[in-house]
Amino acid sequence: MIKKIGILTSGGDAPGMNAAIRAVTRTALADGVEVAGIRDGFKGLIEGKIENFNRRSVAGILQLGGTILGSARLPEFSELEVQKKAVKILEANGIDALVVIGGDGSYKGAMALTNLGVNCVGIPGTIDNDVPGTDYTIGFDTALNTDVEAIDRLRDTFSSHHRCSIVEVMGNTCGDLALYSAISCGAEIVVTNETGYDEEAFINKMKELNKTGRNHLLVIFLEKITDVNALCKKISEVTDYPARATVLGHIQRGGTPTPRDRFLGSQMGAKAVEALLVGRKGVCVIAKDDMIYDIPIDEALNTKRSSRKELYDMFEKLV
Ligand code: F6P
Repeated sequence: MIKKIGILTSGGDAPGMNAAIRAVTRTALADGVEVAGIRDGFKGLIEGKIENFNRRSVAGILQLGGTILGSARLPEFSELEVQKKAVKILEANGIDALVVIGGDGSYKGAMALTNLGVNCVGIPGTIDNDVPGTDYTIGFDTALNTDVEAIDRLRDTFSSHHRCSIVEVMGNTCGDLALYSAISCGAEIVVTNETGYDEEAFINKMKELNKTGRNHLLVIFLEKITDVNALCKKISEVTDYPARATVLGHIQRGGTPTPRDRFLGSQMGAKAVEALLVGRKGVCVIAKDDMIYDIPIDEALNTKRSSRKELYDMFEKLV
């Protein structure tokens, strides 16, 4: 019998996490289970930053970006001693189940605690959309909207000046934000880990595009692939388009969540509590074909993310 559920957010924050926090809290309270909010992720957990939540603790937060609980990255959480300390603190606070909202790194922490006897459920919250097993993560849709709005603005000025715009977006190693933005904004080229990157081939492609006499050029790069500012200098030298780079950076992590992320966060939060109350442990919530399920975290972590090849092929035909 679960009496008290703890909830924490971990890793990079994502818009929509608050909807999940609210849904976990209110669903649990409605089902007669107590809730404790844990500040600043696993770091706050081992520091004992825990407080009991009531309905009002999560009032007025649906529309807020970030996470009201705060978040942190704690690489040391991979150490057994640190994990054992966390278990002791959970026990001392009467917490017998934990909901972890975060990316795949946070899932590993949840799995470790499950192996030490704490019932854990993971909810995928990251703008990167890189958590295996789920079609969408909480925060991806808001970040995509932010990217599209920013790129549309860039298009206005680059079109006026017949320039080349290189836009770098986040995603860590996952190309979804880049690909979906490129399709939504009509980019000429998208470069991600899935497309691969060879600078010489890229410059040749830019020269070819130059010959087509387009008004301006738009290229979307996933982060961590190349130095986009240095690349702009080369493009400016070999094409007729003066190039400028825009790194969208952490702006993509903030802002009011879209209805879709609020909805997904609410659904996933409710599902996490439901899973715990029917005795599931070491599972994570996923969205698949517009339905919400839970599957073992191990299975999710070992699932290969589905290839986006068809979307990349479609993109190429739209250029
Ligand atoms: O995982 C979310 C994310 O924003 C990635 O897209 C990015 O690579 C990383 O976090 C940045 O991390 P930090 O905010 O710690 O610099």
